[in-house]
Amino acid sequence: MIWQDVLAKFKELFGDDGEIGVYFAPGRVNMIGEHTDYNGGHVFPCALTIGTYGVVRKRNDKKLRFYSMNFENLGIIESSIEDLKPEKEADWTNYPKGVIWAFGEKGMKVDCGMDLVLFGNIPNGSGLSSSASVEVLTGYILKNLFGFDVTNQDLALIGQYSENKFNGVNCGIMDQFAIAMGKAGHAIFLDTATLDYTYAPIKLENAKIVISCSNKKRGLGDSKYNERRSECETALSEIQQVVGINSLGDLTEEQFEQYKSAIKDEVRVQRAKHAVYENQRTVKAVEALKNNDVALFGELMNASHVSLRDDYEVTGIELDTLVEEAWKVEGVIGSRMTGAGFGGCTVSIVKDEAVDTFIEQVGKAYEAKIGYAADFYVVEIGDGPQKLA
Ligand code: GLA
Repeated sequence: MIWQDVLAKFKELFGDDGEIGVYFAPGRVNMIGEHTDYNGGHVFPCALTIGTYGVVRKRNDKKLRFYSMNFENLGIIESSIEDLKPEKEADWTNYPKGVIWAFGEKGMKVDCGMDLVLFGNIPNGSGLSSSASVEVLTGYILKNLFGFDVTNQDLALIGQYSENKFNGVNCGIMDQFAIAMGKAGHAIFLDTATLDYTYAPIKLENAKIVISCSNKKRGLGDSKYNERRSECETALSEIQQVVGINSLGDLTEEQFEQYKSAIKDEVRVQRAKHAVYENQRTVKAVEALKNNDVALFGELMNASHVSLRDDYEVTGIELDTLVEEAWKVEGVIGSRMTGAGFGGCTVSIVKDEAVDTFIEQVGKAYEAKIGYAADFYVVEIGDGPQKLA
């Protein structure tokens, strides 16, 4: 059992006295609706059964001591609740620190330090939101340790706030929301303009969700994520000169074609086109799933990838190879990149009997072309954050 190992590590490093709590928050995969969440569009992610485990105990002083079993070489990283600022040397601990800071900003002051040991079985930097998982986990721990009156939806918003304001990545709400609000067996159909959401059961009869990890590392901070976001914002303000909308997510495909000439740059037209069409595809995909039309859902996933590759330009040779090789395998219902892109993972729906062939065939072709291996995970859809012990 994983959490018992993390608990044992905690006791080894920090002793076994006092009240020790064990917590979990999932990772997430987005099925469709990519780069729509900061454009007022829809997303369709789900929480996974893989995620981040945290073992924690309050301290009597102001010290924070963090240790990650994923980065043992970094050892124990110390800081203080009285001096919360992002620091390069603080490495991954900038995520939990950012959340403690964000609670303070929202009027919920953490008044003593803590010891925290983490272990994540989400492949790190894979685009399955290991950082959002740490953020929601931290928020959930603070709620439990200090009795703060916050909902899981609040935890998502606080996590996003900390990522935007403390860690400097202008991410949307999707990752933290998917993680904080996760429900086993269901994906979340979320309207990011209003935060209205519904749970949609994912009933894939005779098929599995397979994640292919490119092993090309990606850090959002140094990627072109913020650049895409500002391209969309500029395109929106250009369109707003000719029609009163709040976000690109307000437009249908037809309206976009009607107003796109207001955008003064061809590249921005492409970016905005993706945002509009991807949002509409997401709505159609959820409708298809409701009608048990998994084949149509898969086609929309494929179209999503093409748009992310050609119009939004966030894929790259690694993700394109994984997806294009997946499309060649009989029994693949749909395949696309997932998450921010520029590396990370793809998500595929694969018929049960084709899963082994898929892993072998795509794995071989990927290694031959890219020069190193991909990893494959058959995943299950899990619940949101929990206290395990
Ligand atoms: C990252 C961000 C999300 C979202 C996706 C792209 O995962 O954190 O907010 O924008 O990229 O869909």
